[in-house]
Amino acid sequence: MRDTIVTTTTVGKTYVSRGTQIHALNNVNLTIDKGEIFGFLGPNGAGKTTLTKILVTLLKKSTGGAFVSQYDVDKDAHHIRKIVGYQGQDTERSGYLRFTARENLELFGRLRGIPKKEATERIEELQTIGNFDFLDKYFVALSIGQRQTTIVMRAFLDEKAEIVFLDEPTRGLDPITALQLRTFIQTYVQEEGGTIVLVSHDMYEVESLCDHIALFNKGRIINQGTPTDIKKVLPSFYKITVTLPSPDKSLIEELELLPYEIIIENVHHVPDILQIMKKYSVEEYIEIRKPTLEDAFIQIVGGDNHD
Ligand SMILES: Nc1ncnc2c1ncn2[C@@H]1O[C@H](COP(=O)(O)OP(=O)(O)O)[C@@H](O)[C@H]1O
Ligand SMILES: [Mg+2]
Repeated sequence: MRDTIVTTTTVGKTYVSRGTQIHALNNVNLTIDKGEIFGFLGPNGAGKTTLTKILVTLLKKSTGGAFVSQYDVDKDAHHIRKIVGYQGQDTERSGYLRFTARENLELFGRLRGIPKKEATERIEELQTIGNFDFLDKYFVALSIGQRQTTIVMRAFLDEKAEIVFLDEPTRGLDPITALQLRTFIQTYVQEEGGTIVLVSHDMYEVESLCDHIALFNKGRIINQGTPTDIKKVLPSFYKITVTLPSPDKSLIEELELLPYEIIIENVHHVPDILQIMKKYSVEEYIEIRKPTLEDAFIQIVGGDNHD
């Protein structure tokens, strides 16, 4: 039997902003199992933060039902708050500047009602899991990545939290800090168990960390499944950009003769292009990159995603 920790049935949320209604969530059905890393993946404005806030009881839904660990988000908010950890986007990177990172965490622990000794031990534990070395620096002296890491650690402070929601924990971070944070999340689940909801618009992050993913678009979950299932609906293609210092008519003509255009559907096409570029000694002007989620969504929904 499945051991579920989050269930939502036909959840809807409508914001009213200056007299207009914004349907941020429509008919959202979701099940999250205990012990997994579950990804909320989708472009900006898709409704990921709205659903996260409903589940941690910071926001009221408009319709439908939502349960966390069998507690009703409307009726049992005080129970839910005791068993969730949450890192939001609003509180991002804030802390008392004249306290060290550790003192900031200790203060947060006190506000949450965690006994001092327990909090101290827990901070040590999290520090070991993440191999973090900056906790005794003043918050004011921390890098953006270290501040964000402290904010993420905060969400894990309460040992009794059964589920931790992280809303875009690595957004805007340098690749090394982002990787450290991902490693922390992964190691945490391996060593401590627990359930994590990871909100992200980075499909590679979600693919590498999550057991299951819900794919959000325009307030709906358009697909749910394992990363392999989701990869089937997200087109896989490579973006190849050629930027020449000066236009070379014959080179362009030759590229145009290739039997595909703009979006190269298959990485095996790259050598053909490279060969032509090499012939003209301009191979350094080619840039090849994997698609972003935005690229993939533009492929699926035809570019009308940013409304
Ligand atoms: N407080 C609010 N008032 C009005 N509209 C909002 C509010 N918060 C979010 N929205 C709108 O709801 C939609 C979903 O937003 P959000 O849940 O933040 O998406 P995501 O986290 O996926 O980027 C967007 O269209 C956004 O503009
Ligand atoms: Mg968001």
